[in-house]
Amino acid sequence: MALQKLIVHGGRPLAGSVRISGSKNSALPILAATLLTRETCVINHVPDLSDLNFMLQILSHLGCEVERASGTLQVKAENVKTVAPYDLVRKMRASVCVLGPLLGRAKEATVALPGGCVIGDRPIDLHLRGFEGLGAMVRVEGGDVRLFASQLRGDEINLRGKYGPTVLGTDNIMMAAVLAEGRTVIDGAAAEPEVVDLANFLNKMGAKITGAGTRRIVIDGVPELHGAEHDVIPDRIEAGTFLVAGAMCGTREGVKLRNVQPEHLTAVTDALVTMGYRLAFEPSTITVLPAERASRGITLSTEPYPGFPTDMQAQMCALFCCTEGVGTVTENIFPQRFMHLSELKRMGANARLEGATAILQGVDRLSGAPVMASDLRASAALVLAGLRAEGQTEISRVYHIDRGYENLDDKLIALGAEIERVRA
Ligand code: EPZ
Repeated sequence: MALQKLIVHGGRPLAGSVRISGSKNSALPILAATLLTRETCVINHVPDLSDLNFMLQILSHLGCEVERASGTLQVKAENVKTVAPYDLVRKMRASVCVLGPLLGRAKEATVALPGGCVIGDRPIDLHLRGFEGLGAMVRVEGGDVRLFASQLRGDEINLRGKYGPTVLGTDNIMMAAVLAEGRTVIDGAAAEPEVVDLANFLNKMGAKITGAGTRRIVIDGVPELHGAEHDVIPDRIEAGTFLVAGAMCGTREGVKLRNVQPEHLTAVTDALVTMGYRLAFEPSTITVLPAERASRGITLSTEPYPGFPTDMQAQMCALFCCTEGVGTVTENIFPQRFMHLSELKRMGANARLEGATAILQGVDRLSGAPVMASDLRASAALVLAGLRAEGQTEISRVYHIDRGYENLDDKLIALGAEIERVRA
């Protein structure tokens, strides 16, 4: 695909309703989990994103039959190969989540080590500790991680790391443990809604998992799993991103989000309410309305779920740029995840970094400028700032956005934004 850029003409008010897509970070491990059975699985509400297409390429390479009909995917892994090559894995580090199901299904796996990325080094030491805990031999050679187990046996496994729990690490160990002998207990497990969604899918396949959504997950191994159908949960980060768009550019009519699970993003909605924005909640919708009095900057720290999500940190920086007072965000999960700050400053933001804390003083106006996307969420933050800025903002390397947001520009245009997608 030729390189593209977005041209955002700022200052247009946003109003109306937008439908939130299925969760990228739920669909990725759930698609990997289809490797655990030779029967057909049907996954609904899968968003059309390049990251998901990369995962489908890897599954096809591993021998899966994949059929797609709009948001529904049928996957059948009758006979699996166990080597995921570098030229596929390097495109998306989340490919690492095929290790667990391959080990569970075939008792071996070879996957290229994921590179780092702009938000920092992305180690998988906790994943490997977990696999060893289940009795697997782990070897790292030639840029690949190789797993082998004559037999997988359940055990008590602690997955807590220096930066807290690991989401994909928890997914990987859960997917290897479902076919292990006996009981596995994961201590220090990630509690994200996407981990719960994966556990629910695995239980539909015949697994015996309890405690998903808490720090202690118990898995009782079973001999084999069968096919299942599953609806992927809505994307809470896409939802949070649209709430911030509505906060920054919304009108009195408000911006209504459909197909959301409000209980999955309470840390984000609490922050917006504390800042003075008004939110209206219904069972699967949230409407964001402008603040009655001037909204105020607040102090935030990113934490593992249910704390404030690191994947919403950049978007809040964009909001703080144009909010009265001082907003600060401390990044505890990926301390280097501030590529967006330098770009926001090109647009007139008053921002500085002290260690892993961004300090943003609200300014009266942002001005459009050519900026460069760097990682998925930083790119979204630049679009948000462009919507609010005066004049035109050109955002290059739009492929970062297309990795994690389904038709972000079209959805914003439907709300009243003026955005063009052009060849770079
Ligand atoms: C998942 O990544 C998400 N990706 C990320 O979203 C998200 O930012 C992250 O969780 C944290 O919530 C997917 O679900 C596909 P971690 P993951 O393992 O699982 C350290 C997005 O924008 N760590 O929870 O890879 C790690 O360096 C993406 O959609 C180890 O030290 O993240 C980080 O500091 C970006 N050793 C912290 O733990 C390990 O073995 C949390 O990482 C694993 C992780």
